[in-house]
Amino acid sequence: MNRLINKIRDIPDFPKPGILFKDITPLVKDPATLKLAVHQLMEPFLGSRITAIAGMEARGFIFGSLVAWEMGLPFIPLRKPGKLPYDVQSVSYDLEYGSAALEAHIDAFEADDKVLLIDDLLATGGTARASCELIEKLGAEIVACAFVVELDFLNGREKLENYRVHSLLHF
Ligand code: PRP
Repeated sequence: MNRLINKIRDIPDFPKPGILFKDITPLVKDPATLKLAVHQLMEPFLGSRITAIAGMEARGFIFGSLVAWEMGLPFIPLRKPGKLPYDVQSVSYDLEYGSAALEAHIDAFEADDKVLLIDDLLATGGTARASCELIEKLGAEIVACAFVVELDFLNGREKLENYRVHSLLHF
């Protein structure tokens, strides 16, 4: 665990005053630590019934696609609005000020897909909750959500109470 923690850099007052940003770029810059994180994300689910990995734009793409590669499974990108070229399903969610949305192609999942959702960070849980809703709207099942970092004090896990949650580091 220390190997992972040592590669997460704290940036005070980013993106705005009072926020302590957890920067994962030192972790992804170090091949051995990145490999460790990817293996720890997938380890509880080896030999399970998962058939697809989904990841949220943008940092979920880094870890999600590596887990998909390692597990030999499809990777499905959940994107910010207006980026996907084919017909999309969309789910909106509230931010502190305003709202955001995530989209996926309508044919992104197979009807019987069992999905592991991957992101770098669970903070308030709004992004992950919307992602689960989007995946279910598209007919697939969520097996679990896995994160490199969980910010416990923001209680994001409460928004995911219906799902199994696996986090590598807690702050
Ligand atoms: C960050 C992070 C998660 C989300 C977590 O993404 O990568 O996806 O916030 O926050 P929440 O639990 O409060 O919803 P961000 O929206 O900053 O996008 P980025 O990865 O493109 O920087």
